[in-house]
Amino acid sequence: MITYEQLNQATAIAGDVLDGLSRMPKSLPPKLLYDAQGSALFEQITCLPEYYPTRTEAAILMTHADEICARLGRNVSVGELGAGTATKTRILLRSLLRRQFSINYFPLDVSDAALQLAKDEMERELEAVKVHPQVGDFEDLAFLARQTPPRVVLYIGSSIGNLEQDDAISLLRNIAQHLSSGDQLLLGVDLVKNRDVMHAAYNDSAGVTASFNKNLLVRINRELGGHFEPDAFCHVSFWNETASRIELHLESTCLQSVRVDALDTTLQFYQGERIHTENSYKYTVDCLEDLLQRGGFEVENIWTDPDFWFAVSLGVIP
Ligand code: SAH
Ligand code: AVI
Repeated sequence: MITYEQLNQATAIAGDVLDGLSRMPKSLPPKLLYDAQGSALFEQITCLPEYYPTRTEAAILMTHADEICARLGRNVSVGELGAGTATKTRILLRSLLRRQFSINYFPLDVSDAALQLAKDEMERELEAVKVHPQVGDFEDLAFLARQTPPRVVLYIGSSIGNLEQDDAISLLRNIAQHLSSGDQLLLGVDLVKNRDVMHAAYNDSAGVTASFNKNLLVRINRELGGHFEPDAFCHVSFWNETASRIELHLESTCLQSVRVDALDTTLQFYQGERIHTENSYKYTVDCLEDLLQRGGFEVENIWTDPDFWFAVSLGVIP
């Protein structure tokens, strides 16, 4: 028997799954990658030797934390989109606490599990940070109104790279509409680099990224009564030069039919057919400046690592 909790979960993702798997080519929104297991797998990815973005951005934040914080308003409140476990955020907040006695921190994430870890760890390590977690989608930014000005919104980790470029601009404009003149956005993006480096980051030798990708099918099985055989799909990831993005897909290894009970549907897959599960856009510094400006922010500063692999930018509402 399906429990009340399972039914709630099913209704939450059913529309997205039905819509995405009815398309040609099939696709699924990347936010579905982050159930509790997906968030835990992402945490493992961040520690992989091949996955350079997290450690590179962390190094930028560590090197420039004082300068970044000096540029923030006096007694800022801090919001964050897609905070995850907020591990890198603690680098900044630790430094910010040298300038103000306390911080109200408002992290938003679709992953309840990641947010709970973020809150526990933040309050354990930084007692002067009051955490106000919000489980939800980027589409609902009403939580930003709970932040008192002056405000800074963090959108780090290259998460904006998972959005199509028009959607990225719309999201920045939406953030900007919730802010006032002088409020700031700290945006971290991954930069275009040697294709082998980027390819390896999404095709790690331990197969963690493959598990992260296939976990989407495990999630559909659990939450929607799906009958996917995850090993009948393989993880495919490659650099798409024209679009300036890494793509993630799940490719059917055979001709197969898959029943999904809660959708009352049976899906057909031909051998080699792919489900497009994620894009990870890589920017140039020029494109990053353009993105911020088109999103309604003036560029205040951009920090990079010595190899120009990753960029952390600070924008301000004029
Ligand atoms: N900021 C962290 C985590 C990045 S992983 C870091 O830099 O390491 C991306 C995070 O965004 C995940 O925790 C995921 O759950 C969240 N996320 C993805 N799509 C989302 C959406 N549409 N709305 C809200 N959160 C989302
Ligand atoms: C969260 N996001 C920025 C990650 C990325 O690199 O695009 C998600 C990820 N997908 C596979 N590995 C990591």
